[in-house]
Amino acid sequence: MSKARWLSERRDDPWHKRAKVEGYPSRAAYKLLYIQKRYRVLRRGDRVVDIGSWPGGMLKVESEIVGPEGLVVAVDVREPAFKAPNVKVLVTDLLSPKVADEILNALNGERCDVLISDASPRLSGVRDVDVFNQLVLTIRALEVSDVVLSLGGNSVLKAFECEELGVLERRLQRSFRVCKRVVTPPALRKRSSEVYLVFLNKLHEGASENLRSIVM
Ligand SMILES: C[S@@+](CC[C@H](N)C(=O)[O-])C[C@H]1O[C@@H](n2cnc3c(N)ncnc32)[C@H](O)[C@@H]1O
Repeated sequence: MSKARWLSERRDDPWHKRAKVEGYPSRAAYKLLYIQKRYRVLRRGDRVVDIGSWPGGMLKVESEIVGPEGLVVAVDVREPAFKAPNVKVLVTDLLSPKVADEILNALNGERCDVLISDASPRLSGVRDVDVFNQLVLTIRALEVSDVVLSLGGNSVLKAFECEELGVLERRLQRSFRVCKRVVTPPALRKRSSEVYLVFLNKLHEGASENLRSIVM
């Protein structure tokens, strides 16, 4: 999609307009608010890791819900626009082998209660390429969550509908008490193939073992 078309679609998008009026850096805030209302993934005082956090719509929601006794570690290759005393920013690449250690350092050595990944590749417009690149990021976020998410913790991961996603969900079913696929209202309006995987209550380590074979 050309930049001009993207800007014009964004201007006409009611979720974008609402985010501007309500002071959220992006419409993604409403995706997380929808998931939070249905599944209560976040609680006051939680330690949260937000991957793909720029510009910060979800980050603002997380910061407000966890409150001053909680902490949010924001991870992105770009520095988020949203700032708050309970937010630590890590400008780093999810695909870097050091990212889990960097996140644990930012969490002062403790694991997090919730990991959210809204990381998404720059779209090429070629469906197979975009689906593949998104799957790589989703699987990488699961590998990181194996290291940084506490037992009992929750995870929300962006994905695109595809055959491989069903394989991934089946492999993860025994690793979390609840596994759901959620379509949020902003995605419905755009008729996109974007979904969120909601995993509640991590039951054991090693959930991401061999997941890379799905994309190889
Ligand atoms: C849809 S935007 C996220 C919107 C954001 N969650 C919000 O609430 O405003 C996707 C983000 O993923 C980030 N991203 C993509 N690939 C990444 C990677 N390898 N490492 C870190 N961030 C990445 C992009 O920089 C972009 O900011």
